[in-house]
Amino acid sequence: MYKDFLDFTVNLVKETAKIQLKYFRGNDLSIKTKSNVFDVVTRADKESEEFIANTIMQHYPDHKILGEEGGYRGNADSEYMWVVDPLDGTTNYSQGLPLFCISVALQHKGETIMGVVYAPYIEELFTATKNGGAYMQCGSKAPQKIEVSKKQSLDISVIGTGFPYDKDIYAENNSENIVRILPHVRDIRRMGTAAYDVCCVACGMLDGFWEMSLHVWDVCAANLILTEAGGIIVNYRNDRGISIIVGNETIVNKIGTFIK
Ligand code: IPD
Repeated sequence: MYKDFLDFTVNLVKETAKIQLKYFRGNDLSIKTKSNVFDVVTRADKESEEFIANTIMQHYPDHKILGEEGGYRGNADSEYMWVVDPLDGTTNYSQGLPLFCISVALQHKGETIMGVVYAPYIEELFTATKNGGAYMQCGSKAPQKIEVSKKQSLDISVIGTGFPYDKDIYAENNSENIVRILPHVRDIRRMGTAAYDVCCVACGMLDGFWEMSLHVWDVCAANLILTEAGGIIVNYRNDRGISIIVGNETIVNKIGTFIK
């Protein structure tokens, strides 16, 4: 049902990847700060979002777009809204670290109906459509249907997390959560790209993930991929943006006993 949107978006992220790979590890990144000194943006973020937004507007001139760098554009009254993080993992990208991704979701009347996350350097593509399942495609291999991990105990689980950019002004910056949960898990990863983290949970490469102070563009696409892969999402606090725990139900509940 959503095949045309999906085909369009997969092509869109593959074209956007070319912009990001062109500048990656080069000396022409034009790194600037945003909300504070920890929060950076590069010319690849901005050029990627312009390309994505312009391409969507050409194909779907009646739709609305929300992008991390450009905010809202398009038809404010549209039932369709594209939610775009042109480059999730900008800190990694700016350092030459290879984990970063493009995240594009489509919502209809507020419900996410399609999500695509593409990590250009490692050529991993995650896709989902509402009630259509979730898939991962590595390079030129055939897409595989994905499912969340079935693990039921934390001591054999590898889980991911992240830290908010405002970590210097709020004492509750996730460091105490790490102290509490670390002795109970096999290990913890901080990969630096929430969209990719959630996709890793969707395909079982991580057994769970939590993070506070996220934005809708970070996880809109990945959250659909996660739920279509059988995972659940719990919002664990309401005072710091989007704060979620994801995984299978048992692991989400167990993570939830340690974190605030
Ligand atoms: C960030 C990444 C990071 C997470 C931050 C996000 P950005 O997105 O997803 O892993 O810890 O909360 O803002 O700024 O690279 O698009």
